[in-house]
Formats: sequence, C-alpha cells, structure tokens
Amino acid sequence: MKKLNLLLSVLLVSFALSAQTQPLPQLGKDSIKNIISAMTLQEKVDMVMGLGDRSWTNPATGPKTVLLQGEAGLTYGIPRLGITPAVLTDGPAGLRIEPKQSEHAHPFYCTAFPTATVMASTWNTALEEKVGEAMGNEVLEYGSDVLLAPALNIQRNPLCGRDFEYFSEDPLIAGKMAAALVRGIQSNGVGTSIKHFDANNIETNRTSINAVISQRALREIYLKGFEIAVKESDPWTVMSSYNRLNGFYTSQNRDLLTTILRKEWGFKGMVMSDWWGGDDPVAQMNAGNDLLEPGDSQRPVLMQAIRDKTISVKVLDRNIVSILQLIEKTPRFKGFVPTYHPDLVAHAAVAREAAAEGMVLLKNDNQALPFTKKVKRIALFGKTSYRFMVGGTGSGEVNYDHAASIDDAMTDAGYKLTRPVADAYKQYIDSVLNKTKEQDRKQVIAYEPEVPLSQAFIDAQVKNSDIAVITIGRQAGEGADRTVESFTLTSTEQALIHDVCQAYHAAKKKVIVVLNIGSPIETASWRAEPDAVMLAWQPGQQGANALVDLLKGAVDPSGKLAESFPMKYADVPSAATFPGEPKNNPVNAFYTDGIYVGYRYYETFHVPTAYPFGYGLSYTQFRFSDVTLSDTVFNKEITVTVKVTNVGKVAGKEVAELYLDAPKKQIDKPMQELKAFAKTNLLKPNESQTLTFTLHASDLASFWSGISAWVADKGSYQVHIGDSSDDIRAKATFTLPRRLIVERVHNVLYPNFLLHVMTPKEQD
Ligand code: BGC
Repeated sequence: MKKLNLLLSVLLVSFALSAQTQPLPQLGKDSIKNIISAMTLQEKVDMVMGLGDRSWTNPATGPKTVLLQGEAGLTYGIPRLGITPAVLTDGPAGLRIEPKQSEHAHPFYCTAFPTATVMASTWNTALEEKVGEAMGNEVLEYGSDVLLAPALNIQRNPLCGRDFEYFSEDPLIAGKMAAALVRGIQSNGVGTSIKHFDANNIETNRTSINAVISQRALREIYLKGFEIAVKESDPWTVMSSYNRLNGFYTSQNRDLLTTILRKEWGFKGMVMSDWWGGDDPVAQMNAGNDLLEPGDSQRPVLMQAIRDKTISVKVLDRNIVSILQLIEKTPRFKGFVPTYHPDLVAHAAVAREAAAEGMVLLKNDNQALPFTKKVKRIALFGKTSYRFMVGGTGSGEVNYDHAASIDDAMTDAGYKLTRPVADAYKQYIDSVLNKTKEQDRKQVIAYEPEVPLSQAFIDAQVKNSDIAVITIGRQAGEGADRTVESFTLTSTEQALIHDVCQAYHAAKKKVIVVLNIGSPIETASWRAEPDAVMLAWQPGQQGANALVDLLKGAVDPSGKLAESFPMKYADVPSAATFPGEPKNNPVNAFYTDGIYVGYRYYETFHVPTAYPFGYGLSYTQFRFSDVTLSDTVFNKEITVTVKVTNVGKVAGKEVAELYLDAPKKQIDKPMQELKAFAKTNLLKPNESQTLTFTLHASDLASFWSGISAWVADKGSYQVHIGDSSDDIRAKATFTLPRRLIVERVHNVLYPNFLLHVMTPKEQD
C-alpha cells in the first residue's frame, strides 16, 4: 500500500511538473479549439466583449487601453495565449481617427472620399474597388485592422439622417457597390464590417424603433444588398443594426444572424453588434452575434447567465471561434509594422476622380455647361460655396487635412471671383464663427440660414461677372432624421435663385445651381429658373476641385441618380409612415410601402418624379444599338449584349441600365426592376463599346412569401436597356416556358403586426 501511495505521489508530481512546463497553446500555432480549451471562463466572457468604456485594463494592451486614438473599439486580447487585440475603426467615407496621436509627432490625416451616395451615382464598380484599395491602405498604414464600412441600408426615405452614408434605393446597386468596396479594402489584408444588418432606415429612436416589414420586402429589398455583398465579397465581419425588426432586436435575432446570414448565404465571418445595440447579451450570444461592442456592462450579466445555465459555454465557444478566426487574419496579429505614412497625395487623386464621376448633371439648357472660353469672372453665391460640405456628420465623418471650398477651387483653376459677393459671404461666415465655440465651428455654417441679399446688390454684380453660380447646401448625420422643412428650400434660398436668375438673364448671362446635399431635396418649384443644375452631393475632400473639373468641361459628367428625386415630399411612398408611430416618439415603423421603394413605386403607381432613378446628363450623346439576346427562350441563363456609341462631340462614359419587365400574373410586381448595369470606358466621339450582361434564373424571380420561395413565373420577359429608368433606348423579349422555383428558403422574419402593404390596382 505504501508502495502504491509512493508511486501515485511520484506520478502526480511528474504530471504537475509536466503541466507546468507544457507550453500554453498559442493562436496561429495551435488549433483554435485548443486555445479555447485553455481559456478561463472569465477570459471567455471577456473575449466576446470589446473594451467597453476603457476604464479597466486589457491585459493585451496594458494600462494603455487605446491603440489608435479615434478608434471605435477593440477586441479583447489574451497575451498568454498569443491573442492580440484587433482595432476597429469607422467609417464608410474613409478612416476616421484623431489626427493628433500622442505617440507621433506628425498628424494622422486621412482622405475623405466621396460619400456612398456619390459612389453609387458613378455606377462604376471598378472605380469603387479602386477607392476601396486606397481607403484600405490608410486603414493598414495607420495601424487599424477592420474598417466599419460600408453602410448599405436602403435609401427608403430622403429624410433619413444617414441617407448620405448609404448607396441607393435599389438593392442591386447597394449590394454591387458594397461588394466592390469590400473587395478593394480587403485587398490590403484588413477587414470590413458591412452594416447595419438589417433595415436601419430610420434614425429617430434608432436604438429602439421596431421596423415592421413584410417578408417579401425584406427578401427583395432590405436583405438583398447584404446577400449580394456577402456572396460576392466575403466581408470579414457584419455589424448588426440598432433597430428592432418585426419585434426583435436584429442583434438578438437568430433567424437573421444564423438562419439567413450563415445557413442560407454561407457567411463565414464574425458578427458584431452596433455600439451598445440590443438589450439582452444572452439573446445576442445565442443569436450568433459573436462580439458585443463596445462591450463591458454585459460582463456580469453574461457571467450570471452561465452560472444560472441560461446560456451554455458552448455558445460562447462557438462565437469565440469566429472572433479568433478574425484576429488571426489581422495585420496586428501578423506582426505588420505600419509606416504611419500612407500616400495621401495619390489617394486624393483617386478621391477627385471618383467625385467627378459621381456628380450628376440634372439640367443643362442651351449648353449652359461646360463654361465657354468667355467665362472668366464668376459671381459665386450661397454660403456653402465658401464652406463646402465634404460629407455628412457622425461616424461617417473623416478628419482630413484640407478640403478646397468651391471658391478656392475656382480661383485655383484660374477664374476670378466677383469680390463684393465673396466678401459678403466671408464677412457673414466670420461673424458666425466669431460667436461660435471653437469645437463647434466645423459644421456651424451648414446649419445657419442662407444670407439674404438685396436685388440691388445682386444687380450691381452682373456687369462684373460672366456667369453666376449659386450653391445650395444641406447637412445631416446619424442620430436624427431630417425635417420635412429641410427637404424644401427656405424662402431666402428661393429668393436667391429667383433674384440672381432675373438679374443675370436680363443681361443674357447664365446661372448655374450647384447642390451640395447628402440626399434628395425639392427641386420642382425652382428648377425652371437656372440654366443648369449640377448635383455635387457631398463628394469628399477633393469634391470642389472635381466640381470645377466638370463645370469647365475637363471631365464629362457621367453620374446617374441611384436615388429618385420626388416632385414633393408627400410623393415619397413612405412619407405618411415615416419615421413611425406615434409620430412624435415612434415605437413602430410600419413599412406599408412593401417592395415599392423608390422607382419601383414611382413607376408602378404612375407618380411623376422631378428626376427619375438612373437619370443624369452628359456633355455628349450616346446611341444604344444592336441589342442581342443569346436565346429567345430562357434556359439556365441568357446573355444580353448592347453596343454603346458616343455620337456627340466630346469624350465621355455612359451607363447602360438593364431593367426587366417580368410577367405580373400570380403576384404584383414593379413595372420594371434593375437587374444589371455597366459603365463604358471613356469613349471618344464615334467610338463604341459592346457591353455584355448575363441574366440568371434568380434575376427573373420574385419572393413568394406564401411558399417561402423565389419563383420565376412563366411568360414573356422584356429586357429594357436605358440610360435612365424612364429613357429606355432598346428592348428585347424572351420567354420562360414554365414556372421555376428558383430557391426555397426558411419561413422566418414574419411581421409581428398585421401589415397592409400597398399593391398596384391593375397590372400589365
Ligand atoms: C454607428 C456605427 C458605427 C459605430 C462605431 C454607431 O453609433 O451606428 O455605424 O460604426 O457607432 O462608431
């Protein structure tokens, strides 16, 4: 017995010794399974959190809890297991960090690229990918790991405060643009987080509002863009949204984050919450929301839930796998040493090219644009001309070094500005800035009223200028929606346009209006007066230079609207239900517009728009010809080709928009829907390019909620090729001989209220 005891003791001691000397598993060297089994329970709970309010110390960073000043969040690090933290930074128009970094003498300025709305208006996915490459390079070279972008929610209502951060009212453009940006950014070996999944279309009460949406509208409109982006670009992460969807917070909805995102679409990455989103960490963990950002307060709740067995440690383990897989891919984990000197000059050139391609020429009577050689002196009106708005506010803002305003850009291009006009605005701007605290000065002019000018003052400028340019501006950002009043022009803005037009037209001189806005405004009441209207959007730090490139004709305008401009706010399909009910403090938002968002509504319900989806003028003209289909009967796919020829006098690019008019027998459908698009190269006069599109069965299908399936109905399909949704230049027809069930999906995400969605009265 003594011998046995001795043997046991020897065995125990040698086991303990070997456990002590056994090296701990290390991330990257050992399997993730082994790493997780070496974690304590506390470490597991810490791992699914971000760094919270930074009042405690992350073992991976020591007392220094900020790795990059201005970062939005971090993931947890466990040095003993080789787990480095990952830095997460905003945002959709470029890297958002503090220019002043305590450990570096030089400023960390970033490039403010054109906002997503501008990029979507380029209809140029290759250009968006190029922007992504430049953006991602700044993420890498300044030491971040993941960019919290792109934001691809649908532009459902022009009053949404984040409209400028989003791409389009159409999910195909939103999805394709987002995929291109993700590919570009991730080509640098850094990650993205496509957001806000899903249906974050309202900023009023954004952290609690319940979006009530039909299953069909979800599948066809609000999920579609995310589906395209996930399948075509493999984003490292997805960010769930703040809002509730059909009764549940999206971050707590397993049907959304697991059934649809992972099982149906095959997403392999990590899901993180939006900052402080949701109200139940246990539900978030169970739903598949792997990481809680910024995380912190949920620690004790989660610990208690494990003790109470309301959540299993296995769920945490599963979520930690996604987090560790992400960390293994990050530059910080791989030991990358940033230069802290990205090539900002090269990136500015990309930003300028992109801005010029995304601006949309809305009106151009009698070739008012481009400026003729005779234009040398410009009277530049509107406060925004002198404080140009580069982007919107909030997490989508970028801390750039310098952005030219329109006055600077015009002067740099050799134009002479009419002094008394410039002086009047500069004096006004100075007087506002003088009475504003330094920290509030950046955006203050945007929210101040327009400067009233007397007719006598305006008249006096005419003889000293060859042309007048007026800029109208609007600003918005996350956390609040715009008001109906901000959709229309103020009486001072109306008077400015009217009085300048009167004075300049009397002298046979032209007037150009520039719109420096993040989302549509009313144009129908005043657009007859000026000779030309150029929609500059909020085009990034090179926007004013790009604008002047277009005004003087150095670049041909080729931007097209990816969001319709309604005649009046009341025409917007969600006008009556936005932001939600009750109106003053909404709890629920009933999406009674169903699938009829944007042009799908205006066209199908015969509501005229001021400027339709897909619209945009150019200084040259294009002809569409030789439309051919690979077959007249649809089998597995059909190829469509079209020849585009520049028949005008200057070089330019043209977008071919392919819409499908599908049979409307079994269920109602939009009059036509965008199914593909492509932009030509720069075509010289008389030059042609043939564009090719492939239509798959899924492009023919609509979502039948009764059977939870995508169905392509049998019958005749018309292919429309347009240079705008309302300017179809060529048509071709094919038939589908029998109904196709293209894909069956899970019957999930049904509304928690009886929802009456609009349907057109008669079709076909
Ligand atoms: C925004 C996100 C952003 C996050 C981190 C949230 O308020 O909704 O878009 O990425 O903050 O800054």
